[in-house]
Amino acid sequence: MGRDVIIACDFDSKQKTLEFLDKFGDIRPFVKIGMELYYAEGPSIVRELKDRGHKIFLDLKLHDIPNTVKKSMAVLSRLDVDMTNLHAGGTKNMMRAALEGLTREDGSRPMLIAVTQLTSTDEESMRADLLIDRPIDEVVMHYAKCASEAGLDGVVCSPLEAGKVHDRCGSGFFTVTPGVRFADGEVGDQKRVTTPAVAKEIGSDYIVMGRPITGATDPVSAYQRAVAEFVD
Ligand code: C5P
Repeated sequence: MGRDVIIACDFDSKQKTLEFLDKFGDIRPFVKIGMELYYAEGPSIVRELKDRGHKIFLDLKLHDIPNTVKKSMAVLSRLDVDMTNLHAGGTKNMMRAALEGLTREDGSRPMLIAVTQLTSTDEESMRADLLIDRPIDEVVMHYAKCASEAGLDGVVCSPLEAGKVHDRCGSGFFTVTPGVRFADGEVGDQKRVTTPAVAKEIGSDYIVMGRPITGATDPVSAYQRAVAEFVD
C-alpha cells in the first residue's frame, strides 16, 4: 500500500456514515473506523464498508494482557481490515502477541501500527500521572523503536515527528499521521498541525483527516484537494 489519505469517519451511526460516503459516488476513499462508530454499530459496519470497496483502518487501540490482545486480534483479523492498531504502552510482549493473533493461516495479516503516547498526553501529565520522567519526544521515539523491534509496521504520530521516526526506525516503518489541516482551514482542538503538502514533504506515509473533510461544505472536493496535495 502506498501513500494515501485516510478519512476519519467519526460518526455515531451507520446512517450518518453512509450518507457521508454516498456523496463520493464511485470514489472509494480509505476510511478510518474508530471506537465511536464501532461501538455504535459493531463489526457489521466494517463488513458493510469493506463490501462497498473501501480500505479500512480499524482504530480500536487495543491495550490488555498479551493473551487477550492476541485472541482479540485473531477475531479482528477475520474482519479483513487493512490496518489496525494498539497501544505500544502494552509492551513488546503484548505487541508480539498481537501480531501472532492477527496473522492468518496463510501468513497474511492487516497492517499493525502502534499508538506511542497519545497527543492529548503532555509532558506534565506524563510525569505526574504516569511517573515517566523523560522528555516526551524521547518517550515517543523509544515506544516507536519498541514497536519496530516487536515487528509492527509503523506508528501513529504527529506529521511533525514522521521524519524522526523514519530516521530512528527505518524508512519502511510507516507513519500514520492525524493533525492535518488545510492551510486556510480551522485548526479545532488539534495542537500541532500541518498541511497535507508539508506532511508529504516530511515523509508521512498516510495522513488521517477527519473534520476538514467530514465537516466541509463539499467533502468530495476537500478529499480531492487532500489527495492532490499529499498523494499526486
Ligand atoms: O477531525 P480530525 O482531523 O482532527 O480527526 C483526526 C482523527 O485522528 C480523529 O479520529 C482522532 O481521534 C484521531 N487521532 C488524533 N490524534 C492522535 C490519534 C488519533 O487526532 N494522536
